Amino acid sequence: MARWEWPNLFNQPRVSTMINHPITKIIRERRSVKPALLRPDPVPRKMIELLLENANWAPTHGLTEPWRFHIFTGESRQRLAKAMQSFYKQHTPIDKQRTEKLEKLGKNPLLAPVVITISMHPDPTGKIPEQEEIAAVACAVQNMHLTASALGLGGFWSSPPLVYSESMRDFLTLDPGDRCLGLFYLGSPQEGLQLESRRSSIDQKSSWQ
Ligand SMILES: Cc1cc2nc3c(=O)[nH]c(=O)nc-3n(C[C@H](O)[C@H](O)[C@H](O)COP(=O)(O)O)c2cc1C
Repeated sequence: MARWEWPNLFNQPRVSTMINHPITKIIRERRSVKPALLRPDPVPRKMIELLLENANWAPTHGLTEPWRFHIFTGESRQRLAKAMQSFYKQHTPIDKQRTEKLEKLGKNPLLAPVVITISMHPDPTGKIPEQEEIAAVACAVQNMHLTASALGLGGFWSSPPLVYSESMRDFLTLDPGDRCLGLFYLGSPQEGLQLESRRSSIDQKSSWQ
């Protein structure tokens, strides 16, 4: 189909119109694949670069392009894991700390061959509201996640509370107004992995006026 050509939208029920279109398949087959379900095999650098390039094409009010990514592979994941464990201990009240959570924070970055931290660098002029900058970063992550999925890779956006700490900001050497919004774990899903997800009907979340 040509770039701007419409599929035959007419005389078809609303929901089924785009059901067989590639975009529908890509969107609906994207799953969150947790690090424990990934294989340790490295992801070719060219693939990671394509994910980042596609993230970079997210919509952005005022073209501020507020997304920032730090890519951890190989040995650098150890440094990330250790830092996250330390921030967890630092920022979680002692009576709320859980050994299994601490262990998971240390283990997850080593289970995924690639960990990409997701950060937001807001418009320095302050013209664009921060919530729009966060929205733009989320669009960039979705581009990345959909691309990963289309390439047969698994991704997972994780946001343990410590990512929002100043310690995390310092660790990533972000600017004072920047915010880390999470981690994106990436790798090849384990052989034969079938993941289910569900959504309630869109009819409950939309109203035609
Ligand atoms: C901003 C954001 C943060 C998320 N953080 C977490 C998280 O910390 N832990 C988690 O289990 N899932 C997290 N998720 C992933 C959701 O759990 C996941 O999207 C949901 O379970 C639906 O699964 P699906 O993506 O496979 O459809 C996050 C998703 C988004 C968009």
